[in-house]
This record gives sequence, structure tokens and C-alpha cells, in this order.
Amino acid sequence: MPEKKLTIPDIRNRKNGTPISVLTAYDYPWARMVDAAGIDIVLVGDSLGMVVLGYPDTVSVTMEEMLHHTKAVVRGVERALVVTDLPFGSYNSSLPAAINNATRMLKEGRADAVKLEGGVAMAPVAEAIVRAGIPVQGHIGLTPQTATNLGGFKVQGKSAHAAQQLIEDAMALEEAGCFSIVLEAIPAPLAAHITSRVTIPTIGIGAGAGCDGQVLVIHDLVGFYDRFTPKFVKQYTRLSEPIAAALAQYKAEVENRSFPDETHSFTMKSEEMDKLLELY
Ligand code: KIV
Repeated sequence: MPEKKLTIPDIRNRKNGTPISVLTAYDYPWARMVDAAGIDIVLVGDSLGMVVLGYPDTVSVTMEEMLHHTKAVVRGVERALVVTDLPFGSYNSSLPAAINNATRMLKEGRADAVKLEGGVAMAPVAEAIVRAGIPVQGHIGLTPQTATNLGGFKVQGKSAHAAQQLIEDAMALEEAGCFSIVLEAIPAPLAAHITSRVTIPTIGIGAGAGCDGQVLVIHDLVGFYDRFTPKFVKQYTRLSEPIAAALAQYKAEVENRSFPDETHSFTMKSEEMDKLLELY
């Protein structure tokens, strides 16, 4: 029997409990594997743009692309909570637009929750979406959609002043009703401190071991994306290597005619073939 689908209260109740495991997925086969592994949250991250669609950053990702991939992921998940990213430009123009786009992610995409980037400045947006009945996950620290403003893909909150801002960001998102917050690329002691200051779970990525959960981009974890590997990524395997070997072997076997062999071909009765040759 499939395990019970996880809910927002299940995730909230993991504060100070068993750490929450989160991985990204962008399509049906990966979503199935991640879910079957018992990962608690499948995040359809807008990292989609970089690791799947080949964009240079996440800014180019559109609502339609996120919806398309969210639907595929949802079809592959039975137990995990599915959170999907609101892409850049879909929640910062007006509150009605933000609510409308978040609603589409649940209604058309069938996601369980949305994630948005930003702290104090985005708290009113998060609050409006939560009030519309849509669970929201916050994301602070290194926020890739606005990384240019932060001076690039850099560790955030290293000075006491910057750290104080991040604590205020986390508290504002909690106050806005977010059910959890991603903390990206911030010093471990600061992440642990933020985790102790909020009552909702924190999910770290490059934020040390003191968070309530951890998230990684699946393509980084399996060694599928080699354009850029941040320090915080642990590559658990290098799938690109056996895949490259398999592709090279396929090419060689096509060229030397050892593929397809008899086991990969269909037969027909020889008398039928003879009849055909008489006809043509
Ligand atoms: O887009 C994404 O994959 C993310 C994670 C890195 C947290 O936001």
C-alpha cells in the first residue's frame, strides 16, 4: 500500500524532529525515483532553467515552463509534498498577479505549495498568497533570482549587520504565515541561530547542519550538471560517466553493426517473406 501523502502540518511538525529531506525534480522519472527513495519534499526548483533548459540563470524561467514541469513531477509523486517555485516576475508586480500565479501552480500544476524568494520586502506578497489559501515556503540568503543585486552567487550574512537583516527576513516570513524557509548559502552558525529563532522548519542549502532539513539540486547530487558546482554540493555519484560510456558504446555498435543483434530484432515466418519476395 502506498505511504500516506505528506501534508503541510506533517512538515511543520518536523521542527526539532527528524531532519526533513528535500530534493529537486523536474520530470516524471526523476520525481518517481526521488519519491520512492522516501524524500519528504520534492521541489520543482526554478534551477530547472539552468540544469534542464540550458539558460544561464533562473531569471529567464517562465510560468508556463514551471507549470509544464510541475505537472510532470506531480504525476510521479505519491508520498512527498510537492513545492514549486514561483519564477522571477510572477509575484513581484502586484499582489493580484502573485495570487493568480500561485493559484495556477496549485490548480493547473497540482503542486501542494509554492516557494518564493525574498525576506522582509516579499513578506506582504507571501502573506497575501497564504491568505488566499496557498501554502508558501520562503527562501532567503542567496536568492538566485536576484543574485546580481547580491553581487553574484556569494555567501550571504557574513557581517553582523547582514546577519541581522537575515534574521529579520526569516521572522517576517514566519509572521507572514510561511510553513518553512529555505536558507541558502549562509554561514552555519547564523543558519543555526535563525533556526532557533523561528518556529517553522528551516531547510538549508549551503547553510550547515543546524537547519531542520536539507535541500540539494538533484542534478548536482548525481553528477549530471558540470557547468558550475558550488562548494556546498556533495556529489554522491557521477552519473554522467556511465552515461557517456553507454552512449559511446551505442555509437560504436551502430557503426560496426553489432547493434541491433537477433535478441533485439523481430522475426517473421520465412514462407511469408518468400511470398513477399514473389510479389515484389
Ligand atoms: O531552484 C532551486 O532548485 C532552489 C533550491 C536550490 C533551493 O531554489
